[in-house]
Amino acid sequence: MSKKPLILGIESSCDETAASLITENDEGMPIVLTNIISSQIDIHKEFGGVVPELAARSHVEKIDLIVKKAIDQSGRSIDEIDAVASTAGPGLIVCLSVGLSFGKAFASITNRPFIAVNHLEGHALSPKLNSKIDYPYLLLLISGGHSQYLSVQGLGKYRRLGTTIDDALGEAFDKTAKLLGVEFPGGPQIEILAAKGDPNKYTLPKPIFNKGGCNLSFAGLKTAILKISKTIKTEQEKFDLAASFQKTIQEILYKKTKIAFSEFEKFNNPKEKVFVVAGGVAANTKIRSMLLNLCNENNYKSIFPATELCGDNAAMIAMVGLEKFKLKEFSNFDHPAIPRWQLDENAKFLKGAGVKL
Ligand code: KG4
Ligand code: ZN
Repeated sequence: MSKKPLILGIESSCDETAASLITENDEGMPIVLTNIISSQIDIHKEFGGVVPELAARSHVEKIDLIVKKAIDQSGRSIDEIDAVASTAGPGLIVCLSVGLSFGKAFASITNRPFIAVNHLEGHALSPKLNSKIDYPYLLLLISGGHSQYLSVQGLGKYRRLGTTIDDALGEAFDKTAKLLGVEFPGGPQIEILAAKGDPNKYTLPKPIFNKGGCNLSFAGLKTAILKISKTIKTEQEKFDLAASFQKTIQEILYKKTKIAFSEFEKFNNPKEKVFVVAGGVAANTKIRSMLLNLCNENNYKSIFPATELCGDNAAMIAMVGLEKFKLKEFSNFDHPAIPRWQLDENAKFLKGAGVKL
């Protein structure tokens, strides 16, 4: 039996310092040995959002301890690690630089290959940590910074079918939470408030619902919520607004995902049609069950990462590292941190006023 690769993954692109060790079994399925995540929520809470300098300082303070913990708890030793994979972008440059430099130094000292990873590719491949998925597949990536439909043709081969033209979906959840007086990060709290409310109480706009293919837009929703939130007097009205917001998001994603299915099928004809949902918002149970039903109706197999792998983590970075390691796709030690790094490098920039859809 040949030795299976052992990959160290490191993530520090935003407000989570994370390290993970993964390997694989004889059938080629990944095994997550450790997945250590240190969140900085308490540091940023009082500011209502991530403060880059504070985030970077906290990464510097913790990165060595987190990596040590990931190795110690894995039952493996440093010498057994075959490659080091670090997030190189996109993200906050001061934060990215910490995990990237640490990973390079670690790889250099241990004389192992270094692999620079696109954080979004980490999310894209995260469901592979617990499900066998063949390329091509359709991906909906819904996180705090990105909302995109992508056709995943292979490792490093992405074709963007649709994107948000303004706010990311996680951002829309966080902003709605803020307007409802919920502490940062409010996205997950909206789900809890919504469970107690009437989803039909408020009618909210659905920007670009009937145009723009499977592109998305959420900024108009925020404006509507701002207006309504000023009229709210009772806790129940707050729950109702959260529920109405969540229902509106479900309706938008239902319609846009259907369009994404047909876009995907224009140039893919896989044996089995697979729809993967990843990123922090994929943890939302209402959105999950709506998308699951939609997949059943349209003969797609739906795959979600385990809830603990939806948000930022290093196991997904190690997963990309594992695939690249097997293809010997290594990076140079001068690989830069890349704050803006699209998965589909040919996709047009679609943000801001005057965007033509
Ligand atoms: O993927 P992620 O951890 O970080 C980024 O790469 O952005 O996503 C974080 C986002 C936040 O905006 C957070 O509010 C949102 O995911 N989120 C949720 C839920 N859990 C996390 N949004 C809606 N419902 C949830 N249960
Ligand atoms: Zn992320």
